[in-house]
Amino acid sequence: MRIVSGMRPTGKLHLGHFIGVLKNWVALQEKYDTFYFVADWHALSTKYDEGLDLNELSIELVKEWIACGIDPKKSILFRQSDIKEHAELYLVLNMITPVSWLERNPTYKDAMNQPEYREKNNAGFLTYPVLQTADIILYDANLVPIGEDQKPHLELAREIVRRFHYMFKKEIFTEPKELLTEIPRLPGLDGRKMSKSFNNAIYLDDDEKSIWAKVRMAKTDPARIKKTDPGHPEVCIIFDYHNAFNKEEVVEIEKECRAGTIGCVECKKRCAAKINELLSPIREKKASLNESMILDIINEGNKKAGNIANEKMEEVNKVIF
Ligand code: TRP
Ligand code: SF4
Repeated sequence: MRIVSGMRPTGKLHLGHFIGVLKNWVALQEKYDTFYFVADWHALSTKYDEGLDLNELSIELVKEWIACGIDPKKSILFRQSDIKEHAELYLVLNMITPVSWLERNPTYKDAMNQPEYREKNNAGFLTYPVLQTADIILYDANLVPIGEDQKPHLELAREIVRRFHYMFKKEIFTEPKELLTEIPRLPGLDGRKMSKSFNNAIYLDDDEKSIWAKVRMAKTDPARIKKTDPGHPEVCIIFDYHNAFNKEEVVEIEKECRAGTIGCVECKKRCAAKINELLSPIREKKASLNESMILDIINEGNKKAGNIANEKMEEVNKVIF
């Protein structure tokens, strides 16, 4: 079974990415034929006007993947824009995809309700799922690991595949299925969604000091004023973090919090220590990697992915012309 998934190079990764996506990607390498790519063209779909250094961001992204345990011996790592077949198939698929299908996409509809997006409203954003379909079906992926929010994109991918088969009377693509993973709740340190723009995230390359500085500032259960006040872990962000990163102690911490036998500062210290335990090997591994090592890995992956994409595109063109 083949798996294909991509990530947009829009900035450094945080704990939410690790727990939501990368941990899963790492585990999947053991059981599947895994292809992971830098979706740099996709990064432009919303951020074309932000002057992103996509080369630098792409190299940093792959560095962080590898630091987290993505193994170039087990997975094929490549960069979307290096494989021109993604663009070629995207063009072809755009010819057969009704605009009405794309306008129905919830991501698109949400964005159109936000004035700052509506102003940009570039064609590439509307057709984002078409490019994503090309990314997936070029490699005949069986499964695509995604979050809940990406489900409509996968549904569209299947519809586009069926339409292609119907239009050109030949079944040459695999219909991809989503691989949904249970993702533990991990809000940012202020309780909102973890995001760079809210400045509430712990980054994979944060050091021990900055982890503590961030954890220390997090809001806890407002009902706790004295250490002996009984707490409510279910309203506390720090408890969510224990739940995600400190399985060994989480049951005990819940008890102690409810009983008012642990103070929030002590609880936060244990939380920060666990996060640091998780991140310090990732930090070290990242520091041991340099740009030329990453470029070698990407070039290697590009060759393998490129061969498959090239063959597929020949098949596509034979069917069409
Ligand atoms: N849309 C995905 C995201 O924002 C990124 C992506 C692009 C992708 N192409 C893909 C994911 C193909 C899976 C398969 O996270
Ligand atoms: Fe949150 Fe821990 Fe304080 Fe309970 S003791 S409110 S879980 S920080």
